[in-house]
Amino acid sequence: MNSKDQKTIISTFEKEVYEGLTAFPKYLSSKYFYDEVGDDLFQQIMALPEYYLTRTEYQIFKVNKSDVVKSFDPDKKGFDLIELGAGDGKKTKILLKELLENNYDYTYMPIDISQNAVDGLVENLNQEMPEVTTQGQIGEYFEVLDRLKHMSDRKKVIMVLGSNIGNLLHPRAIQFLKKLCNAMHRDDLIFIGFDQKKHPQKVLDAYNDKTGVTAAFNKNVLARINKELTGNFDLDKFMHWETYDPESGTAKSYLVSKEKQTVDIDELSLQIHFEAWESIHTEISQKYDDDIVKWLAEESGLEIVKSFTDKNEDYKNYLIKKS
Ligand code: AVI
Repeated sequence: MNSKDQKTIISTFEKEVYEGLTAFPKYLSSKYFYDEVGDDLFQQIMALPEYYLTRTEYQIFKVNKSDVVKSFDPDKKGFDLIELGAGDGKKTKILLKELLENNYDYTYMPIDISQNAVDGLVENLNQEMPEVTTQGQIGEYFEVLDRLKHMSDRKKVIMVLGSNIGNLLHPRAIQFLKKLCNAMHRDDLIFIGFDQKKHPQKVLDAYNDKTGVTAAFNKNVLARINKELTGNFDLDKFMHWETYDPESGTAKSYLVSKEKQTVDIDELSLQIHFEAWESIHTEISQKYDDDIVKWLAEESGLEIVKSFTDKNEDYKNYLIKKS
């Protein structure tokens, strides 16, 4: 392929930035928050006092670790523990340790699209917990799950932590759960975190911290367009804005243009005009209750077996099976 052909290949990022910024109202996907800078900002978010999600899920695991691991493999027949989007594995290590101390026969398989993320976690686990058999898998979640379905007859427990599903609108969450369901055999299980509806102020504060880390995380999508697509967004001319609708349980993040302005994105040969106070919708972080999770599961051919929660019922981890 010559260099001219190569130049005309449009990446998904380019295509989606073009579509989102020429639409009305404007939008960009939160999946583009995550490059090296964004990953680091997200680590900082997880340590913020306002961002209760990570701490609460950690506490649920600490308090319920014995019951959680028993529910994964009650007869101790052996299983594969598959984690989609494992991150730094801090919460998962509580369960890995509990499984190890109680002589469960299991293999831990973190799956991620980033070779770096998987390599880092596997290396860290090999050092910290050398007794655990860890097999990192690189690739798109569903492609890897499909591969595993045909590769082994061992029971699978698929973990999706951090309320990551909350970044999907309900129809896409159902699509995601249906795909998980298709990759499962009869006895397989899903162990998945859903952040719960709660005092609206607590949700708003979690996505609007005083130190401005969440604002920087949100604006990182513009910084990426500047870096990767030769854009000239002035980040100071946009503000982070958060809303939470207690009826739908949807928290929404926006970037709002503080003035009338025009931005160039050279790689896309695109000029974008912003009216003063015009918004770009960047993220949803859905909050749930038992009825919504039950409905999502039913729509996807699944059913709830049990759930684990904290004392305030701020967050729940559900064990789910094929119905
Ligand atoms: C990764 N995801 C579940 C986070 C959330 O809570 O929606 C991302 C995030 N956005 C702002 N703060 C954290």
